[in-house]
Amino acid sequence: MTLTLTDTTPVSVRMTETMLELGWPDGTQSRYPYIWLRDNCATAFHPKTQERTLDLLSVPDSPHPVRADIEGAAVTLSWRDGAPDSRFELAWLRAMPMGERRPDHPVPKLMLWRASDGAEDVVARYAAPDIERDDTTLIDWLSDTARCGISIVTDVGTASWDGSRIAQRVAFLRETNFGTRFEVMNKPDPNNIAYTAEALTLHTDLPNQALPPGFQFLHCLANDATGGASIFADGYALAEDLRREDPEAFALLTEVSIPFVFHDDNTRIMARRPVIRLGHDGAVEEVCWSVHLAHTFDMPPEQMVPYYRAYRAFMAKTRDPAYQITLKLSAGEMVAFDNRRILHGRTAFDPNTGFRHLQGFYVDRGDIYSRLRVGLARR
Ligand code: OGA
Ligand code: ZN
Repeated sequence: MTLTLTDTTPVSVRMTETMLELGWPDGTQSRYPYIWLRDNCATAFHPKTQERTLDLLSVPDSPHPVRADIEGAAVTLSWRDGAPDSRFELAWLRAMPMGERRPDHPVPKLMLWRASDGAEDVVARYAAPDIERDDTTLIDWLSDTARCGISIVTDVGTASWDGSRIAQRVAFLRETNFGTRFEVMNKPDPNNIAYTAEALTLHTDLPNQALPPGFQFLHCLANDATGGASIFADGYALAEDLRREDPEAFALLTEVSIPFVFHDDNTRIMARRPVIRLGHDGAVEEVCWSVHLAHTFDMPPEQMVPYYRAYRAFMAKTRDPAYQITLKLSAGEMVAFDNRRILHGRTAFDPNTGFRHLQGFYVDRGDIYSRLRVGLARR
């Protein structure tokens, strides 16, 4: 909505015991608690960094203005306790969503997908040299990756760390117990099923971490073995369909947390979380699913039976081809996906038929979205 000056010129100004009430020309009214006005006065913020420096406890319990003067496009409040006057732009006050969540900067709307949407439409492809050269392409690529939760970068190269050049073009690498970069290949003494030639059922990585990695970048250096195709599914679509088809199962998966653990000789990393986490608006905001890392369930026995039913209902969806996109990565390609949304897996491969080697990197969600917000705001 674009606000004109007249939209933001109050037709009434009232000072109650605790709040400033402004009536707007369209007949609506907004209320601003005085304590909130003091907490958000321009003088409360560092002039350079814009971080809040106000000591809120230096403000009286019930601050009260003695006057509220409308002057042009602003209102100025003079305070009873002698604090410096506070000046607020009326357009800023008018746009403030009092009682509603502050909207995020415009970021791409999510598109939930299923197999019928087609891999070509779901998985956008961008060439690495374009992403590296051009900020517009970088932001286009991130927008598509955020929208569908997945994309492929081509022409990455086939040398170690080539994939990290692209991941670091976005933000900082997230280090884990598997290193800054993890090597996915058939290893003689694996501490993870991924490091064998076995199939990997659909999963998200590291739900055993207090904050599971946000975005994952899997760079293919070699994929010459028979088998070893990649499988992806949109965990949000699975969850939303389950909500509709089996609300009881959905509720249990959002309400009951389960333990996850990874351990090897040097490590024992544990966290608990529900399989599905909802955001404040009720939309699915996180799916964490790993049969391999799920620890022994410990809920009360009477809850266990219905929980297992719900857990298996979600599991059945992860096996349903109606949700799956299957593709085989070629050397020099890198798949990027939201690891707390997109489930990923692979078919088994035969190491005797050729070499298969992927390198993985993680970048946190907050850093990806930061790059997107700043990039989109500059457009
Ligand atoms: C993993 C993984 C997929 C693959 O390492 O966690 O899911 O294609 N690898 O090997
Ligand atoms: Zn994985």
